[in-house]
Amino acid sequence: MTDSVKNDERTEANEAQIAVHWKEEKYIEPPKSFVEQAILNDPGVRKRFDEKHFPDCFREYADMLTWFKPYTKVLDTSHPPFWKWFTGGKLNACYNCVDRHLDKYRNKAALIFVSEPEDDVPYAMTYQELYVRVNEMAALLKDYCGLKAGDRVTLHLPMTLDLPITMLACARLGVIHSQVFAGFSGQSCGQRIQDSGSHYLITIDAYWRSGKLLDHKANADIAVKTAEAAGQHVDKVLIWQRYPGKYSAKTPLVKGRDVFVNDVLKDYKGKRVEPAHMDAEAPLFLMYSSGTTGKPKGCQHRTGGYLAYVAGTSKWIQDIHPEDTYWCMADIGWITGHSYIVYGPLALAATSVIYEGTPTYPDVGRPWRIAERLGVNIFHTSPTAVRALRRLGENVPKMGPQKFKHMTTVGEPIEPKAWHWYFDQIGKGKAVIVDTWWQTENGGFLCSTIPALDKMKPGSAGPALPGIYPVILDDNGKELPKGSGIAGNMCIRNPWPGIIQTIWGDDQRFIDTYYRRFCKYPKSKDWRDWPYMSGDGAVDAPDGYYRILGRIDDVINVSGHRLGTKELENACLTVPEVSEAAVVPVVDEIRGKVPEVYVSVPASVTDRAAVAKKVIKACEDIIGKIARPSKVHVVPDMPKTRSGKIMRRVLASISNKRDIGDVTTLANPEVVEKIRVQVQGK
Ligand code: PRX
Repeated sequence: MTDSVKNDERTEANEAQIAVHWKEEKYIEPPKSFVEQAILNDPGVRKRFDEKHFPDCFREYADMLTWFKPYTKVLDTSHPPFWKWFTGGKLNACYNCVDRHLDKYRNKAALIFVSEPEDDVPYAMTYQELYVRVNEMAALLKDYCGLKAGDRVTLHLPMTLDLPITMLACARLGVIHSQVFAGFSGQSCGQRIQDSGSHYLITIDAYWRSGKLLDHKANADIAVKTAEAAGQHVDKVLIWQRYPGKYSAKTPLVKGRDVFVNDVLKDYKGKRVEPAHMDAEAPLFLMYSSGTTGKPKGCQHRTGGYLAYVAGTSKWIQDIHPEDTYWCMADIGWITGHSYIVYGPLALAATSVIYEGTPTYPDVGRPWRIAERLGVNIFHTSPTAVRALRRLGENVPKMGPQKFKHMTTVGEPIEPKAWHWYFDQIGKGKAVIVDTWWQTENGGFLCSTIPALDKMKPGSAGPALPGIYPVILDDNGKELPKGSGIAGNMCIRNPWPGIIQTIWGDDQRFIDTYYRRFCKYPKSKDWRDWPYMSGDGAVDAPDGYYRILGRIDDVINVSGHRLGTKELENACLTVPEVSEAAVVPVVDEIRGKVPEVYVSVPASVTDRAAVAKKVIKACEDIIGKIARPSKVHVVPDMPKTRSGKIMRRVLASISNKRDIGDVTTLANPEVVEKIRVQVQGK
């Protein structure tokens, strides 16, 4: 790690310090069988997308879409950093993902739903059937709810077909959907309803998870209560039924507010709704993501640029042909699912698999049984899932005859050991792997190898995608020389079509979060003066392959999902006994990082175990089970600087069993050893 990174206190208290440092691995050639059938096999692509051809190069992506009205300008930079893409153009995302495929692929499977109970037969929904369902739902949203273009609707849906149907129905009308990951608590959902100003919540009664049919409707009641307490009235809660015609939750319905979608849909049977002609710049959806403050950010994605970017990257990086059966094991509640389960694959007329449940249920062989049964040939998952399957799966029957041609990882760095297992055991050495680096704010992949053109290097995400020009800046904004191998702030010098438009309702936060730090001339209208700050640390090896080191801000990446430490700390502070809270990332063999919590309590509080329990419950209730701390340390005091700042770095060193360093300048150095003994033992 560089001196500039080492010496900076802000970054020292961060994750880059505990980031993995693997030895450089050897290149691995993409398998010949893959290369022979790959969509993108023209090495000229990098030249076509070099800086000389920016931004016009992105016409190639826009041309993959069907436009109602052609765009007149590729990129409008008149109001930095609020870039506009494909201005003047009109299109509809739902039309591009459904209608336009009907002539050729009417009765080809668009989505295959696999429910968690293994005895249920998978259900393949054709493009025609998807068209019918989406139209009926769009008619319901338009005529029953009175929703129109620009309105927001919050969805709190799990992985069933109701989710993509609802998203596409919104998109058909130009209604902005805001899907909240189903694993998030009712309170989290309520907070997002309020922030987005939604009058409708669309949810489901129940869904299967790890062998249990969860009562999800209970979360809707909490969500509505939370939103109303924050000043946002919810007119109606629309409830899909996991088993249509039957109510599978225990929580009673609220009269006048709760309605079953399936009941109302009866009035809209056979209805068709013209797809709205939306401006390329019309927002398509919001996706809330954790940031460095307690409040999640509503990442606002545009219609034209976003759809063009996900279609282009699905085609070139995922190599999705319409004939492929593609399975991304992520959840649609995260950006990966929006871009690479729904919008990207469907824009390409692919067959995309949706699995409801836990990958390891009822046992670790489940994903491979699903893949074999459906003939999946493109598989996309997270390093956490790879590690979990690897650890648990050593002794279970491996995948049968090799089927995968392509495998993706996303969300966190994948260590060479896990990479090799994935390559050898799952891909049987015949599937190409792409390690894709990107973020909720980015819309689609930013770094990855181009599967047929670039050699793979385990542990490195690979070079930047065509049309993406990264730069690594030191903490003073000075460019680190290309290929220096020195760690710094991973930034992207140019705008690209997938970048968010803004943070919903908070333009200032958009500027402050991504641009303020490294923009030297805030009055400049030249995009070159506005590098996008990703918040990740990275090193650029001499070969131009980026190795992502992890977050350099107060965000923890757990199993590839972002958790804001402030959000967690705020949740801990709702426990009355807790005076102070600090959350630190701890390296975990399977999940990458997990949050450990330190809370201080007054001396009068003696039942520390009870406090720890309350803290865990608060995190689960306020954020969701995903935020459950792996450990809670109830301590008498926090290590602090003389100005009273909690030294999270010291706590992180204790939890990660690293050298604590010099603490003599702290206001209370004696507490450090007490905490160390409490956590690590003598
Ligand atoms: O730290 C990076 C890590 O995940 C963060 C983005 O999280 P989120 O917005 O939830 O999106 C996840 C899926 C796109 C990044 O800031 N990250 C993502 N992909 C990789 C990664 N770290 C290393 N290697 C990757 N391939």
